Amino acid sequence: MPERVALGARLFADRRLSVDNSVACASCHRFDLGGADGLPVSIGVQGRRGGINAPSVFNSGLNFVQFWDGRALSLQEQVAGPLHNPVEMGASWALVIERLRVDEEIVRTFAEAYRDGLTPENIADAIASFEQSLHTLDAPFDRYLRGDPSALSPQAKAGYQRFRDLGCISCHQGALLGGNMFQKFGVIGDYFAERTPTRADLGRYNVTGREEDRHVFKVPGLRNVALTAPYFHDGSAASLDAAVAVMGRYQLGRDLPPDDIKSIVAFLHSLTGRIPALDGVE
Ligand code: HEC
Ligand code: HEC
Repeated sequence: MPERVALGARLFADRRLSVDNSVACASCHRFDLGGADGLPVSIGVQGRRGGINAPSVFNSGLNFVQFWDGRALSLQEQVAGPLHNPVEMGASWALVIERLRVDEEIVRTFAEAYRDGLTPENIADAIASFEQSLHTLDAPFDRYLRGDPSALSPQAKAGYQRFRDLGCISCHQGALLGGNMFQKFGVIGDYFAERTPTRADLGRYNVTGREEDRHVFKVPGLRNVALTAPYFHDGSAASLDAAVAVMGRYQLGRDLPPDDIKSIVAFLHSLTGRIPALDGVE
């Protein structure tokens, strides 16, 4: 429904969803930064530092679950997370409803879009509807798959070949080149050996409490990845070159030669699609 998408776009950019009216969803999911925030970890209300890197909202509706640890099963369910998180928006549904209820225009728009009008569920649903519209499945790589061999440079084609031959594709697969399974970070070698793991480093273990889920994460989709540095749940890789080298080392047990890294990075650049516009965010 177009009116739900439009309503969701407004709410996505609406700072009234945070405790002190300072932060909107769009503050951390910036359309000019590939739908993420360009920071190692996000900064929320009152400058509070979060514990984890912000993924892009683009194509998020195609993820099999939401968040690095998969703790939300749908976009609708996801919204309550940042809204309540004290280091993100620090608000509550009661507070947000109280604020929006005095805005006659928004109340009317909700009444037009939903039978039961302004409710927490409908706020979440409108935002999710908007997010479902943020697909970027029109990258050079998509044109290549549809039969236009000139859509990729020779280097990017070589990178796609390496991506398949090395086995990146065994985890980064499907429409998003990821987003459809959980995997351990550090399949071969202990990525966390040199540090005391943070809570976020525990990954899916935080959801299930099962030992085999320690350091297990949703495999992130790689669409628009060239726009969303820094990389990994801990924001530790500043560049795509660095991220690909870490993947070679800890997921495949190989030190990738510079030529492989270069061509794979060229391939990853071919996954950048047309970025949608977001009106009304300062
Ligand atoms: C303070 C910064 C911040 C704000 C504000 C924020 N987010 Fe996020 N967002 C993040 C971070 C960090 C994560 C990753 C959290 C995790 O996985 O534990 C995330 C994850 C997500 C995801 C999951 C994407 C994926 O690939 O798993 C979606 C969808 C999303 N946010 C949408 C929203 C919406 C909708 C709002 C507003 C209601 C919002 N975010 C507000 C920082 C923010
Ligand atoms: C065994 C599964 C697996 C294999 C194989 C694998 N990856 Fe990953 N990849 C992951 C997981 C899991 C993450 C998330 C790690 C984290 O941040 O916790 C990830 C993250 C990434 C990221 C960072 C994305 C972001 O938004 O932060 C890039 C880029 C990437 N992989 C590329 C590759 C490339 C290129 C290869 C092949 C050289 C590869 N991966 C092989 C599972 C895998």
